[in-house]
Amino acid sequence: MSATTFATDLPPPALELRQVRLQRGRTTVFEQLTLPLAEPRIGLIGDNGAGKTSLLRLLCGLEVPEAGQVLCSDRDVHAAGAQRPRWVGMMFQNPDDQIIFPTVVEELALGLQPHGYAKKEAQARAHDFLAQRGLQDWATRAVTSLSQGQRQQVCWLSLLLAEPQSLLLDEPYASLDLPSQARLAQDIAQAPQQVIVSTHLLAHVRSFSRVIWLEQGRIRADGAGTSVCAAYEDDVRQRIAALQP
Ligand SMILES: Nc1ncnc2c1ncn2[C@@H]1O[C@H](COP(=O)(O)OP(=O)(O)OP(=O)(O)O)[C@@H](O)[C@H]1O
Ligand SMILES: [Mg+2]
Repeated sequence: MSATTFATDLPPPALELRQVRLQRGRTTVFEQLTLPLAEPRIGLIGDNGAGKTSLLRLLCGLEVPEAGQVLCSDRDVHAAGAQRPRWVGMMFQNPDDQIIFPTVVEELALGLQPHGYAKKEAQARAHDFLAQRGLQDWATRAVTSLSQGQRQQVCWLSLLLAEPQSLLLDEPYASLDLPSQARLAQDIAQAPQQVIVSTHLLAHVRSFSRVIWLEQGRIRADGAGTSVCAAYEDDVRQRIAALQP
């Protein structure tokens, strides 16, 4: 199942990279990358190492560019400080890079901090949220007692509850079983915010109006999901065929 619609007519925040250079370790990941990202649904695809995670990390301020700017509605993401979690939030590729607290309810409550809720109120809201989704039993569970896919779900729930203006999802389907993938796709379809999703599972972004194919830190294709996904699949087929003796 894949997300197909944008639930409201709210204008998304205009995320934008301008002339960005990003170095990670000894790798120059992006050089003079300019990329406006204003559409409500954007897919990011491309080979391992293409730069998908690096792009999302830039957008939520976890990476600082060596040159250029990362903007959210013309405001510098890196200068935003305490306001930033209200603008952009990221679901990490590896849930263990995201989760900080020992129990599920504490982790979910963390996302409510920027909204100004006191700890008790935030935890009560997190409990209610879990109950709405039939997951009340998870509230007091130790995060370490959950499976990889369950931890990935906690990361998504945490982001959903935090309600930043823009949701950045890095391979969110990677460890999810089929029912959870379907539920996530449904959540994404219904979310009123902007959602940017990186994935190797093209079915989940094929219907998006915009998909960006990254290749070695450059934009190889940028356009409607159907055509960009087809072009990537075609390229992969050709590369595999070229490997045959
Ligand atoms: N922590 C790091 N230190 C140094 N270089 C890194 C680091 N993380 C990624 N890189 C390099 O940055 C480049 C882009 O990596 P990135 O993780 O953004 O790719 P990706 O498209 O998300 O790949 P994948 O599909 O495997 O998740 C790669 O060349 C990678 O080797
Ligand atoms: Mg990645």
